[in-house]
Amino acid sequence: MDERSKSQETCKSKDMKPEAAEPGKAMTGNQGVGISDDQNTLKAGPRGPSLLEDFYFREKITHFDHERIPERVVHARGAGAHGVFTCYDDLSDLTCASLFGEAGKETPVFVRFSTVAGSRGSADTPRDVRGFAVKFYTDEGIWDLVGNNIPIFFIQDAIKFPDLIHAVKPEPNNEIPQAASAHDTFWDFASLTPETAAMLMWVMSDRALPRSLAMMEGFGIHTFRMVNADGKSHLVKFHWKPKKGVHSQVWDEAQLTAGKDPDFHRRDMFEAIERGDYPEWEFGVQVVDEEDQLKFGYDLLDPTKIIPEEDVPVRPIGKMVLNRNPDNYFAETEQVAFHVGHVVPGIDFTNDPLLQGRLFSYLDTQLKRIGPNFAELPINRPLNEVRNNERDAQMRIQINKGRVSYFPNSLDGGCPMHQPEAVQAFRSYAEKMEGEKVRERSDSFADYFSQARLFWNSMADWEKEHIVNAISFELNNCTSDMVRGRVLNELLVNIHEDLAEGVSEQIGIAVTPAGSADNPTPSARHRRDRSRSTTRP
Ligand code: HEM
Repeated sequence: MDERSKSQETCKSKDMKPEAAEPGKAMTGNQGVGISDDQNTLKAGPRGPSLLEDFYFREKITHFDHERIPERVVHARGAGAHGVFTCYDDLSDLTCASLFGEAGKETPVFVRFSTVAGSRGSADTPRDVRGFAVKFYTDEGIWDLVGNNIPIFFIQDAIKFPDLIHAVKPEPNNEIPQAASAHDTFWDFASLTPETAAMLMWVMSDRALPRSLAMMEGFGIHTFRMVNADGKSHLVKFHWKPKKGVHSQVWDEAQLTAGKDPDFHRRDMFEAIERGDYPEWEFGVQVVDEEDQLKFGYDLLDPTKIIPEEDVPVRPIGKMVLNRNPDNYFAETEQVAFHVGHVVPGIDFTNDPLLQGRLFSYLDTQLKRIGPNFAELPINRPLNEVRNNERDAQMRIQINKGRVSYFPNSLDGGCPMHQPEAVQAFRSYAEKMEGEKVRERSDSFADYFSQARLFWNSMADWEKEHIVNAISFELNNCTSDMVRGRVLNELLVNIHEDLAEGVSEQIGIAVTPAGSADNPTPSARHRRDRSRSTTRP
């Protein structure tokens, strides 16, 4: 068996081969009954009215009428591929997760890349964050690493996510603009939410214009935990590094591509895989001891912060190769359901308030988008057997047998107080908890600008120029002078004066930092955001 067919053999969706409408075989309806004519409705005479009796016509049309499911509320446009993850070393010092149990161990994966803001039919190349979601079909169940191509996020607390997305998506009165950012509401929100500062720098850089999906980094963003068999936990950040390197389009090129070939990225990945030029990434972790989590001068629970690789190097632990295109876009790429809460023993969460909110949101949205039995679909079901007392609901596929669907039970061979334990079950890391029930943000999350500045300072001159041009383009498309002025004088000046001056020149608004004679109001909003609020909602 050659390398390609060997890796395909290990691919999850070998069980998803298309069966329907095979050429040369007679068509049937959905009940298996042969069809005499698929092209003419049943009529009262060749020129007469169509008959309600035509059960085959009604089946064909009603099925068509129901073809669409709701698109994802975010990340609606995506492209996916199957592949294999190979672990480099035995990582049992760090984690008991079986996929990291021995050098060379292979685990099938399905990956979906996406834009965030555009609708399902939008273009591939606008300025936007890219989703980078990986489903590992491990022998202990599913692990989803639902990340992005940028290592931080806009906001610190999930309760702000609906606001962020409402600001980013087209305006609700006229559904304009379809483009991700360039509009008033996004900049209005961002300028009033200074925790977005560092992410704005990434999004206004060329990182938000990837040349190819195979040329993007990927990040788990949040600090996660790896827990070993002795219950010892380490804090980790996950990284994907593309073998082809990180490359971007330039702004004019991205706009041209969006117009000439809206499928630019998905076509590129599909064709590369078809010709055997498989996209590949190295997987790595930054590992930090639990007791060191506040030693860096920022909080590792704050998702708007990176850990610079100079401070904690990335340890390579495996590689991922995408080697097979989906057979069917809808069945696989559209119906796949990623969830940060899908973890296996040895991987665990931290109290990052963005991560904690995501743990609720994904299951909730998938119950609506795909339905309560979404986990039974071939693309979503684990390789290992699922055994529990969950039953029924719309579109149930599994036929559960017997009278017992509860615990404890003594019928059907059950023993009343004995529930067999999984050999290696998921047990939450027993983190010590204390504190008062409060609705507030930790003071350790209060620094919004130092990593935005770090990012700016790390850029080459031409990269700085691209950022200044990008922000200026955006603000010149923004119709509110109040919003433009606030971005300049409450965000950009706090990042770097060269950045503020550069943008000021292009948008024709003077730099007047808060606290100066022309702008005497100190940043009240920043203070309010950081202050402790004990008010009830
Ligand atoms: C979808 C990443 C924050 C809610 C997605 C997808 C990715 C992603 C990659 C697309 C998954 C796919 O391809 O099917 C992230 C990252 C975040 C983040 C990296 C921050 C670090 C949030 C937050 C919420 C949220 C804070 C809500 C509280 C959703 C929802 C979907 C989604 C509802 C649609 C899922 C579906 O329909 O299957 N996210 N997201 N995300 N995200 Fe997030």
